[in-house]
Amino acid sequence: MTRRSRWQAFLLVGSSLMSNMVTAAPQMYPGRMDPGVSGPVHEVPQAPAYNQDNMAAQKPSQYNGDYMPAPELNSQAEPSALRTGKEPVSFGMVLFPGYEPLDVMGPLQILFRLSMSTPINLSLIAAQTGSVSAQPPAAELQGMALAAPQIIATHTFANAPKLDMLMVPGGWGMLLLADKNDTSIDQFVQARFPELQYLLSVCTGAISLAKAGVLKGKKATTNKSGWSIITKYGEGINWVPTARWTEDGKVWTSSGVAAGIDMTYAFFNKIYGPQIMKDVMNDMEYAPHTNPNYDPFSVVFNVPGAVASRTDECPQPL
Ligand SMILES: *[C@@H]1O[C@H](CO)[C@@H](O)[C@H](O)[C@H]1NC(C)=O
Ligand SMILES: *[C@@H]1O[C@H](CO)[C@@H](O)[C@H](O)[C@H]1NC(C)=O
Ligand SMILES: *[C@@H]1O[C@H](CO)[C@@H](O)[C@H](O)[C@H]1NC(C)=O
Repeated sequence: MTRRSRWQAFLLVGSSLMSNMVTAAPQMYPGRMDPGVSGPVHEVPQAPAYNQDNMAAQKPSQYNGDYMPAPELNSQAEPSALRTGKEPVSFGMVLFPGYEPLDVMGPLQILFRLSMSTPINLSLIAAQTGSVSAQPPAAELQGMALAAPQIIATHTFANAPKLDMLMVPGGWGMLLLADKNDTSIDQFVQARFPELQYLLSVCTGAISLAKAGVLKGKKATTNKSGWSIITKYGEGINWVPTARWTEDGKVWTSSGVAAGIDMTYAFFNKIYGPQIMKDVMNDMEYAPHTNPNYDPFSVVFNVPGAVASRTDECPQPL
């Protein structure tokens, strides 16, 4: 099938699905309008996988250097957990004033596309339901309106449903919460940790995981530009400065902002397998960075262990 006919086939599948299916779609409002509270959240029915032909897999080029090569993410067999009823379904994304927009929307873009072929649902969880702005409530920004989007929280920390996966994004607001000694997100993470199949953080979201104590004895990484500030939180954490993302048991952490997209791709690649994720990423028209061990921004922000001579491959389509 050509790309075009694949897309048409998808639209056909899509239109019959859309009538009874709510995808993992957040509601967003631009700027500073007050949109009120969210609408109802529905169960996502089992959706038929949409069929895509194989595109020739392109291997990323190898590095020349003294560091670890990229593991072959696509070499894993299709996971046996797939469609056994044990795969994670219920995804929660934490929101707080001053989240970084892409920390939230990058991973949710993948989740949204994935939910068209895979049963996944989404809860957007904050201190209160309703709109949560990306505008950091920082003294430095008093009276200054940033071009900050708002996203609607569907649940609170008190009434969020059972979650299989929880993601904590970063942003300036996370640093402000830490400065205020606000532990609401940390407490939520701590309380839900035992039931979670997976806990993920993007960027400064790792601060909350560190404060919650769930990174103790684990590998973790975070935003490169704020490395020394962020890594003072928590104890006994094996911070990996040059990682694009880390995986340790059920905890995944990524570097800053756009790295959350790369980690989310690798995460779902592990759960659902390379074919589904290749389709998702190609339909997003995004080439993920597939080497967890090397983040080029470790050189830009000169974190410990950064080697300027390393030149990362340019990400290529899957
Ligand atoms: C998502 O699915 C889980 C498991 O079926 C359920 O407990 C949860 O309430 C659902 N969440 C939403 C937002 O629909
Ligand atoms: C936060 O806690 C630290 C350490 O206990 C304290 O020094 C600081 O004043 C607290 N900040 C606020 C805003 O309460
Ligand atoms: C680090 O986090 C800050 C605040 O969220 C963000 O502005 C910056 O772009 C991030 N840096 C990197 C390298 O991702």
